[in-house]
Amino acid sequence: MKITVAISGASGANLSINFIKNLPSEIEVFLVLSKSAKTALKLENNISVKKLFKDKKNIQIFDDSNIAAPIASGSFEVDKMIILPCSMNTLAKCAVGISDSLITRAFTVMLKEKREIVLAPREMPLNSIALENMLKLSNLGITIAPPVLGYYSNQQSLEDMEKFLIGKWFDLLKIKHNLYKRWE
Ligand SMILES: Cc1cc2nc3c(=O)[nH]c(=O)nc-3n(C[C@H](O)[C@H](O)[C@H](O)COP(=O)(O)O)c2cc1C
Repeated sequence: MKITVAISGASGANLSINFIKNLPSEIEVFLVLSKSAKTALKLENNISVKKLFKDKKNIQIFDDSNIAAPIASGSFEVDKMIILPCSMNTLAKCAVGISDSLITRAFTVMLKEKREIVLAPREMPLNSIALENMLKLSNLGITIAPPVLGYYSNQQSLEDMEKFLIGKWFDLLKIKHNLYKRWE
């Protein structure tokens, strides 16, 4: 399976790092970070993604300005895409079809090819523009799955909470996992 993981500039970009760390190694990952995502990761977690994943053979990292990357073309077969976290800026661009960066171009390609897309918008509270954008995208068949916690699987720590969220995104993308205890 091939998956595009896009990180835009919203709080909690570290969730995306842990999402990738938990992916089975046979999944090929095409990772793109917006400029603001790099800033957010530096400020919130002091993380450099290039250093973190330098030995991972299944992960390729692309600049958001690299509009000639494979994932910018529909003829390159990527199965799924997640934008995690999805900033309100990237959400708005996706909703109106702007594709002026690799993340937004890859999104548009996935949409036109009718492939699976999950967006994890991160903002609180949400203004009406963001809500309208989410409704529009949901009506286009995109799954809107923000990082919203459930408290039913006995999480004890921030790590448990993150695992719960990542497990929910894996469920939506049909990736098998054992990251949280399911309700019985
Ligand atoms: C540390 C940090 C946290 C941010 N958190 C959010 C957020 O949670 N949601 C959001 O929509 N924007 C957030 N922003 C603002 C976006 O990064 C900004 O709107 C940017 O233009 C988004 O660009 P992008 O969509 O290309 O990543 C944050 C910025 C920084 C520096």
